[in-house]
Amino acid sequence: MKFEGASILSVSQFERADIDTIFHVANHMEPYAQRQKRTRVLEGAILGNMFFEASTRTRISFGSAFNLLGGDVRETVGFESSALAKGESLHDTARVLSGFSDIICMRHPEPDSVADFAKSSRVPVINGGDGSNEHPSQALLDLYTIEKELKGLGRKIDGLRIAMIGDLRHGRTVHSLSKLLMLFNNISVQLVSPKDLAMPKNIVEDMRSKGLSVIESEKIESSISHVDIVYSTRIQEERFTSKDEADLYRGKFRLNQAIYTAHCEPNTVIMHPLPRDSREEANELDIDLDGNPSLAIFRQTDNGLLVRMALFAMTLDVVHLVEKNSSDVPWHNLR
Ligand code: NCD
Repeated sequence: MKFEGASILSVSQFERADIDTIFHVANHMEPYAQRQKRTRVLEGAILGNMFFEASTRTRISFGSAFNLLGGDVRETVGFESSALAKGESLHDTARVLSGFSDIICMRHPEPDSVADFAKSSRVPVINGGDGSNEHPSQALLDLYTIEKELKGLGRKIDGLRIAMIGDLRHGRTVHSLSKLLMLFNNISVQLVSPKDLAMPKNIVEDMRSKGLSVIESEKIESSISHVDIVYSTRIQEERFTSKDEADLYRGKFRLNQAIYTAHCEPNTVIMHPLPRDSREEANELDIDLDGNPSLAIFRQTDNGLLVRMALFAMTLDVVHLVEKNSSDVPWHNLR
């Protein structure tokens, strides 16, 4: 695809070559993200960061990625504190805010709302999560992490064996990741969820028609025993009608060190888009895994910065200028 000036709304926009390009650019962002060098390539540019749903890492990660390229960030957080609560349409909001910004990141509880917003925006829009539909930047950073982790084990994404666990019905990260995996060869996917929270049928059918091997199950132990990646997810409480309904499913699929040792192959990589629900009744990834070198959850968040920097540099067409606008970091770098 042509990235310059493009909105990024769904992973379905990408071909395999696009993924290679994004990852290549992301690799080049490492010295800037690690503060070995700094670049001012986006000096004067403004990111409109609009999050109408709870977020910590995605919002801060997009904002920090933009800052790391030298740009400024303006934020709107929460529906109630925005004019949407006064009845303003997404169309009007997009017309107004795209006059203030060079690019917009948006999260919204309604599926397809970010794409609707993008139609009325004069600047590129990046989907930071539209309800239970998609979360393209998360899927890219997840796949980037998978590639890096597998490389350390002498493997590639082609041939990947992955188990996705938890609320696969509402989890937009697993929807986007499943779609991205359709671009690769020889992929085996174990989908582990309660029946009511199964991966949407159309995604499963698409995966199968693209040649992926897909097995659906309600048992975590047998599903994690022959995979390279265990990708755990949270019960998406905010998509249920009540907390009580979400409670019915919480804590059903727990991974801790004892289960990992008993069932996983050595070096099986553990991932989660975060936040992990660490409350006793959920505890999908126990903190006793924190000492396990295969726990990649904090490498995922670090990689997210690189991938989001790459997306900004590519959509604003400054990839070739990043280096030219760089200088040494004058402060004491503790990283
Ligand atoms: C995810 C999301 O918002 O979809 N979080 C994130 O962006 N890293 C997953 C979640 O909230 O469970």
